[in-house]
Amino acid sequence: MPTTAITVDLRPDAPETVDAELLGVPFSGSLSPLATRLDAALHGQLSGLVASGEARSDSGATALLHVGPDRPVEARRVALVGVGDAGELDDDGVRSAAAAAIRLAERIGGTVAFAFDPDLGLDDARQTRAIVEGAVLGGHAAGRWKTASPELRPDRLVIAGAPESLAEVASRAALVADWTNRARELVDAPPNEITPDGLAREASRLLDGLPVDVEVHGPAEIERLGLRALLVVGSGSVNEPRLIVLRYRGGQSGRDVLGLVGKAVTFDSGGFFLKPQSDIVRMKADMGGGAAVIGAVGAIAELGLALEAVAVVPAVENMIGGAAYRPGDILVTAAGLTVEITNPDAEGRLVMADALWYARNEGATRLADIATLTGAMRAGMGDLYAGVFANDDDWGARVLAAGESSGDHAWPWPLHRRYRRLLDSQLADLRNTAGRNFGYPIIAAAFLERFVDDTPWAHIDIQSSAFLDDERDYFRPGATGAGVRLLTELASGLSGAT
Ligand code: BES
Ligand code: MN
Ligand code: ZN
Repeated sequence: MPTTAITVDLRPDAPETVDAELLGVPFSGSLSPLATRLDAALHGQLSGLVASGEARSDSGATALLHVGPDRPVEARRVALVGVGDAGELDDDGVRSAAAAAIRLAERIGGTVAFAFDPDLGLDDARQTRAIVEGAVLGGHAAGRWKTASPELRPDRLVIAGAPESLAEVASRAALVADWTNRARELVDAPPNEITPDGLAREASRLLDGLPVDVEVHGPAEIERLGLRALLVVGSGSVNEPRLIVLRYRGGQSGRDVLGLVGKAVTFDSGGFFLKPQSDIVRMKADMGGGAAVIGAVGAIAELGLALEAVAVVPAVENMIGGAAYRPGDILVTAAGLTVEITNPDAEGRLVMADALWYARNEGATRLADIATLTGAMRAGMGDLYAGVFANDDDWGARVLAAGESSGDHAWPWPLHRRYRRLLDSQLADLRNTAGRNFGYPIIAAAFLERFVDDTPWAHIDIQSSAFLDDERDYFRPGATGAGVRLLTELASGLSGAT
């Protein structure tokens, strides 16, 4: 899986002096002092684009001009790129603008410069981060399986005219965005390649050379460890489950150990509650939580954050067959709680229950789990926000804050111990579902909560934001890598780093 990472460079030089195929200039409805200076050099061509109505402030809108033979600026092309109206400018607007600038150069290749605008009205570091993220995430192309030779993609981004002191911010943002793209590649990859074993191999390959211990357990070991729920969910598939455990030791002992748990159902057929065609076609993306955890661990390790983390990714395929689990089955989880299966399509919470127990057993003192768990997320919140549930207000608030500051939007959902009664079973300690159209994202979280005891825990349901049917902002359709940025930011906060 080759990563076509774009090199990111930050330069204090004035944008007009930067040699590039294209120079993107942010536009929020009128020419900024910076754009006015460029306009003067360009013989009024930028104000011409504004006067003609070609330049628009909508984020990601572009108006392109070719620089004449007298080369008043070094770049061969200049584009005004909408970042949103001055009154409603935000980080996503800048990300979308940077993405649009990169895409404009997609059949041209070479260097794309994007002008840092000190008068933009967005904090300097946030502006820098947003430009980098928009360019790296927005420029990502998923067509690895195309046999025709790829387009000439830009291979370098220059943030032009930014204070040198922001170079570190830019390179950290590029690193995290690169890991986000790696997670996206895992999710976009087909389920015949990303089986549980395929995912484990990819995780080992991606993390090779980093200070991360990668352990992969097969069925015999999973059985020995007592993770029966993981085993049972996987019993219907010829592709046996794997338990992927990643350990990063960058911190001092005695401090918090961050436990990350990511759902990796490499294909979710729904089991004997077979999914309809309209849903089953997206089910290769049901490992988006696991991919996010793998990407976040990669970023955490490459940044060298000062903390200890253990990540657990239960990888399994939920299929139909003579050995598949049935509605009515009762299984014993690793934690010892028995579960009556009322719906074999609610498989995610079963494998996550065992993985959460395992993470605690491995010493996690704070837990964050991430999963494409319930369809109601998208029905309720569209494709922008992930839903967050927590058993600890302070920890929940930190997860939400990490989401908002990193660009992985997250919104709180309620969790109350009164929901637990809905999971009462006549026969076992609990059942895996209550009614289908009845508070079921909360009920899923209430199920998971039974397996974390009193460890501070947050559950992030990314069913909404992990995979897009349509383009959104700086993302093309397909995987978004939702959670990589949030989890890395969360770890960064825990490490005391910025
Ligand atoms: N993997 C699905 C959730 C999902 C749905 C992901 C649509 C992506 C797109 C999960 O395993 C599932 O089937 N959830 C059920 C829960 C229900 C049985 C309580 C759902 O959302 O319908
Ligand atoms: Mn399911
Ligand atoms: Zn699922």
